[in-house]
Formats: sequence, C-alpha cells, structure tokens
Amino acid sequence: MQEKIRDLNARKEEAKLGGGAKRIESQHKKSKLTARERLHFLLDEGSFEEIGMLMTHRSSNFGLENQKFLGDGVVTGYGTVNGRLVYVFSQDFTVLGGSLAEAHAEKICKIMDLAVKNGAPVIGLNDSGGARIQEGVVSLGGYADIFYRNTRASGVVPQISAIMGPCAGGAVYSPALTDFVFMVENTSYMFVTGPNVVKTVTHEEVSAEDLGGAYAHSTKSGVTHFSCANEITAINNIKQLLTYLPQNCEDQAPVDDYQLKAAEEREGLNNVIPDNPNQPYDIRDVIDLTIDSESFMEVHKNFAENIVVGFAKLGGKSIGIVANQPAVLAGVLDIQSSRKAGRFVRFCDSFNIPLLVFEDVPGFLPGTDQEWNGIITNGAKLLYAFCEATVPRITVITRKAYGGAYDVMNSKHIGADMNFAWPTAEIAVMGAKGAAEIIFKNEIKSSENPEATLKEKEAEYAELFANPYNAAARGYVDEVIEPKDTRYKLIKAFRMLSNKVDALPKKKHGNIPL
Ligand code: HXC
Repeated sequence: MQEKIRDLNARKEEAKLGGGAKRIESQHKKSKLTARERLHFLLDEGSFEEIGMLMTHRSSNFGLENQKFLGDGVVTGYGTVNGRLVYVFSQDFTVLGGSLAEAHAEKICKIMDLAVKNGAPVIGLNDSGGARIQEGVVSLGGYADIFYRNTRASGVVPQISAIMGPCAGGAVYSPALTDFVFMVENTSYMFVTGPNVVKTVTHEEVSAEDLGGAYAHSTKSGVTHFSCANEITAINNIKQLLTYLPQNCEDQAPVDDYQLKAAEEREGLNNVIPDNPNQPYDIRDVIDLTIDSESFMEVHKNFAENIVVGFAKLGGKSIGIVANQPAVLAGVLDIQSSRKAGRFVRFCDSFNIPLLVFEDVPGFLPGTDQEWNGIITNGAKLLYAFCEATVPRITVITRKAYGGAYDVMNSKHIGADMNFAWPTAEIAVMGAKGAAEIIFKNEIKSSENPEATLKEKEAEYAELFANPYNAAARGYVDEVIEPKDTRYKLIKAFRMLSNKVDALPKKKHGNIPL
C-alpha cells in the first residue's frame, strides 16, 4: 500500500510541474504566472479540487509519444471565490505551448458540462499557442466542442475569459463567445491571423501588440472588456466582477445588507448639470453620486466612450447601468456605442440584473461613415435589447432626450417600468435651433432680420419642448424629481419592482438584428 501511495504522490508531483522547471522559469521571465499560480491567486485558499490531473494525449504523431505530460497542458477543476462555487480551466503554456488537442479539450468540456448542470460560472484562463499542430484535425474538433458548449451555456451561467498569453486563430472564438474578456497588457494578444499573415495578404506591417494586444482590443475593436496592467490585477478584477453576478440564470445576484435611510439626498447632484445646455459634464459624476459608495465597476471603459456601462450596487443590490456620456461626442449614439450597450443590456437581462439608464442624448450620429457601416442595424441592436429585457428597468432623463434616441434609451414605450426626469430634461424631436430652422424655414427666409427671427422661433420651440413637462403631462415621465433625490427615489423604485414578473411571448428565439 505505502508504495502505491508513494507512486500516486509521485505522479501528482509530476503533474504539478507541468512542462518542467526550465519552462516555468521561462514563463516567469516573460512576467507571466504559471497556470497553477494563477488559480492559486484566483480561488479561495484550499478550495481548489482538480479534475483530470492525470489525463494525457493519445497521439503518436511527430514524436508526440515521447512528449506526454500529465494533465495535457490544462489544469481544470472547481473551487470557490469569496465562498461561491466556480468552475475553472487554466491553460499551461509550459506544456507544448498550452496547445489544445483532443484530451486538453475534453478536460475543458468536462468542467463546462459540470458548470451548466450545477449552475455556476466558468472562468477560463487562456495561454495557448492554439491548435496542437501535431494532432491535426482532432485539435480543430476539440475547439469546436468548446465553442458548442460556450454557446449552449450562454445565458445559463456567466462565462468569463482571461487572456494571459497568446490566443490566435480560431482559438479566439471561445473567449469571444463568453460574456466578459479580460486581457493583460503587453503579455497577451488575440487575433484571427498574426502579423506574418497580415503582411503577406495586406502588406501591412504591424506588431503582435499593435494588432491584437490589450490596448487595441480595449479601445478599437471592443473585443476585450477589461484591459489590466498585470495578471494579478486581471485576477482581482475577475473576483470583483463576480460580486455583482448571480451564479446562474435562475439565481439572483448577492445582496448586501442595506437599510434605507430617511435622508438619502445627494446635494451634489443638484450642481452637476451646467447652466448652458450645450456644455458637457461627466456622467460618471452622476453615477458615483447616486450609487453606493465606490461600487461602480465600469465595463468597456475605453471603448465607445460616448456611452458608459457597468455594474454597481444601489441600496446593496446589483444593478447594471447604461448612461450616455455628454463629455464624449456630446453623448451621441453611434454604431460602437449601440453595440456596446446592447450587449451589456442583454447580459444583465440574461442574469436578472436590473437596469438603470441615465439619459442625456442628442440623437444618433449623422454621416456617411455611420450610414454605410450600418448605424440602422446596429442602433436596432440596442433598441431590440431594451425592448426584450424583462428585468426591472428605470430611466432617469438628466438633460437631452431627442429624437429616436429618446425612444431607444429605455423609454416607457419600450417597456421601462419607471421614468424619472430632472427639471433640466429636454424631451423633444430635436434641438430647438434645428427644429426652428425646419418648421419656420419660410418665415425665417422672408423675414427682414432672419437671424433675429430664428432666435425668436428657437426660443418659442424651446419654451414648448425643452423641458420635461410635456412628457410628464402624457405620463411618459412618471415623476419630475430634484436631482438630489435621485438615489432615494431609485432605491425605493427598484425595491417596488423587485417582484416584477414579465415574460416574452412563447417562441423559439427572437431574431436580433445581428
Ligand atoms: C504544438 C506548440 C504550438 C502549437 C507552441 N508550441 N504552439 N506545439 N502546437 N500550436 C510549442 C513550441 O513548439 C514550443 O515547444 C513551445 O510550445 C513554446 O513555444 P515557443 O515558440 O518556444 O514560445 P514563444 O516564443 O513564446 O512563441 C509562442 C507562439 C509560437 C507565438 C504561440 O509558439 C507560435 O507561433 N506557435 C504556433 C501558433 C499557431 O500557428 N497555432 C495554430 C493557430 S491555428 P518546445 O518543445 O520547443 O519548447 C489554430 C486554429 C484553431 O489555432 C482553429 C479552431 C477552430
């Protein structure tokens, strides 16, 4: 018996060494942690239970029979983060470059199946040279098995990907199918084809970092939601994200104890909106003054910055916030901001996270670039996402709510439960100047002093529409509130809506304008 136990322990020790001390050293030299070190920092101490530690590949192609590593380049299992169950896989670059083939994929699929059956998030830590070239088509099959499960699990359990090394070729599609992608600056990259292929095909010279590093994907493509300075920051951010999320689509997010105080006023909110309606302000000031102290976790912070999205706690409860950002492009809606917000709304709705919208939007961005690249279809994504969402939904109109954007930004007409407006709200088809130029065109033209007439008509239109009272008179706005009361009103309204029951008509699935 003792000998068998010694043998077992020797095997386990061998598995823990992955590709061996030399490769671990080379991993550290690149400022990268090993697969096991990453799990150590991610999971509660002592909570990790490994599954499939002794699995190996079965290939004998190209000398692979002499390169068997216990675990086959990926560490899989389950553990807890802040006491809550998660399933994890962590690719081990020290074993055949973390490349994915039959056994490696089977291990990942096994924990994904367990996650779905048991209703807990899946966290994938990616660091891989892609499909294991020596194993050929079974590697491609392995990827497809994972993609299939990513898609089936979508909306059932939260799926989180961290990219902590290379992620190239078709391998990028597993993270892309998950809910949130974290990338580590300077040590990770994602692209469908690398710099060499790019050079051959398009003659562009570009480095791996510029083509698919954390900066490119967090600012230009929006592929990654969080760009992190190093691996530890990425891991800590994943842990923080989990605090806002339920375990699965039938669960509710954790609630912190919170007693509503008689006075929840935030005087600062009365001073955020500038006197001049064309002057920008930072919507994050409104968010920070409204929510529980320092609870905002912004998603896609540096991408499509004309809209701000993220998670927060309000009165101890998780909410998802979507807010036009007047400080960037006047908060206009365009293709990227519609895509960004639409996907966020759908995530929140999938996982029972109520939605709060702060609205200050002058409309959709005009121009050939926007029209030819599909602002119609992309704007419709956000519209569709709101229309379909059945979670509690509240809007606060802080200033402009113009044109189609008024409808799109969670108006009551498309299912918002409560719509508050500040006295500074302007709810109209368009801004007063533009409106006056169109409807009083002839009068202005024939006037002795066109400029003065335009000003007069502009004032007339503003008087009638640049306020919240027309909309309030029709019930499109439920209450016009002093900004300082916003927090109090929202906490009460979300509590009032906490037992909301709403369902979509029976169907196979809708046809979102993808
Ligand atoms: C087998 C691989 C491998 C792979 C790396 N290795 N990638 N083995 N299959 N895909 C091995 C290397 O041979 C090496 O083994 C070890 O991992 C470390 O790799 P290095 O090249 O020394 O590391 P580094 O210099 O850091 O470069 C990392 C790399 C490079 C940029 C990822 O290895 C690379 O370009 N690999 C190939 C990438 C690739 O073309 N993959 C296929 C993509 S197509 P030794 O024993 O020498 O240490 C794809 C399709 C998926 O993935 C489709 C899904 C639908």
